[in-house]
Amino acid sequence: MINFNWKNADSSILGTQHGLDVQREFSLYKEKISGIISGIYADKDTPGKWLAWMNLGYKEDVVKEINEYAQSVKGKFDNILVLGIGGSALGGICVTEALLKPYWNINNKPRIFFVDNIDPDQINGLLDVLDLNKTLVNVITKSGNTAETMSAFMIISERINNKDNIVVTTDKNKGILRKIAAEKGYKSFVVPGDVGGRFSVFSAVGLLPFALVGIDIAELLKGVRDMDKALQNTDIEQNIAAQNALIHYLMDKKGKNLSVMMPYSSRLKYVSDWYVQLWAESLGKEVDLNGNKVNVGPTPLKALGATDQHSQIQLYNEGPNDKLINFIRVGKFDTKLEIPKVFQDTEIAYLGGKTINDLMNAEADATRVAVTDYKKPNVTITVPQVNEYYMGQLLYMLEVQTAIAGALYNIDTFNQPGVEQAKNYTYALMGRKGYETAAQELQQKM
Ligand code: PA5
Repeated sequence: MINFNWKNADSSILGTQHGLDVQREFSLYKEKISGIISGIYADKDTPGKWLAWMNLGYKEDVVKEINEYAQSVKGKFDNILVLGIGGSALGGICVTEALLKPYWNINNKPRIFFVDNIDPDQINGLLDVLDLNKTLVNVITKSGNTAETMSAFMIISERINNKDNIVVTTDKNKGILRKIAAEKGYKSFVVPGDVGGRFSVFSAVGLLPFALVGIDIAELLKGVRDMDKALQNTDIEQNIAAQNALIHYLMDKKGKNLSVMMPYSSRLKYVSDWYVQLWAESLGKEVDLNGNKVNVGPTPLKALGATDQHSQIQLYNEGPNDKLINFIRVGKFDTKLEIPKVFQDTEIAYLGGKTINDLMNAEADATRVAVTDYKKPNVTITVPQVNEYYMGQLLYMLEVQTAIAGALYNIDTFNQPGVEQAKNYTYALMGRKGYETAAQELQQKM
């Protein structure tokens, strides 16, 4: 299983100003955490609670349907093009970057591309190089209405003649895309109700693109299930998601309101992007469940080891003590790379005969210790290997951690009212019917 180590958040190492008496806090919050965990598991099938993502690891029928479809289109397409944004793209990007061979698109098929923005230069650039006849387009939007995704789809679908080149992932009944799919006869998959975008990576939103490029989705979900079983334990001493949620919550109270995600692995680089959305949209809230104005939410930051040692670490070490750093370490890399014994009469001779693996792990340890010397709290998640099984475990653990943190803040983890205002203004600016008042308001404010 994935391992979690909170030692460097403890006051015995950091002192009481910056550290927590972790064991004491675990006992103080024992009952509260136990109640939260029992509560979310008890509610996971309750409509309106938005906890149905906790069941995604167990949907064998979905896995079967997706694998059958992936098998039926195998060899027919050179490219998979995913259109989606936010929760409809980030999980896909994160898992494919982690599990496909690095630089996959150069020598392997099908290649996979994500369009998760509306940059005209990027979309035009992709259309210049992509043969759409040999491309399977997977358009993903739960609401079926998202302007960014639907505009890209409008552009691309108009250039595609064969309906078999399009596969849709959206809500079962609601939204414009569902209607279009029915009218045009596109093959479609369902984003289950009560699964929010940022918690949808283990639904067809993620599983379909993964299966299309040969990722073993059954193994991914096995990791999810094994982590799920472990996290059903209501004892905080045994529950790593609860431990990290509580440590974040208490550190935030101590003024460490930035949560850095820093994997020491390029393949895990996009775990940080995925985590940033999960943490920010879930925990950044204006009001609590009682309607009090609270304006809470630790700000997530992304970093990459070892690269950011030459960028952000200066600030982390010597700047304000306002961060909790989550290091992710990989137990065993898939390959080994030796550094040859060249330039032996120079100052870099010490590197010769070692491996890049040794260097990466040495840098991870060195940075962890150095950050701790500066009294900056940090925790470490160790992923034994970057594969399907452990990716399932890691992402699911972070999802449960987010749900527990939301309960500690006493907020609605699963809504995102803060994104609506800018959406409405965009609709107004783009002349959408029904947004005339917003358009007038906007004119006065601009
Ligand atoms: O987490 C969320 O709910 C959001 O980030 C959505 O995923 C994002 O807004 C895209 O929504 P949709 O899938 O409806 O296009």
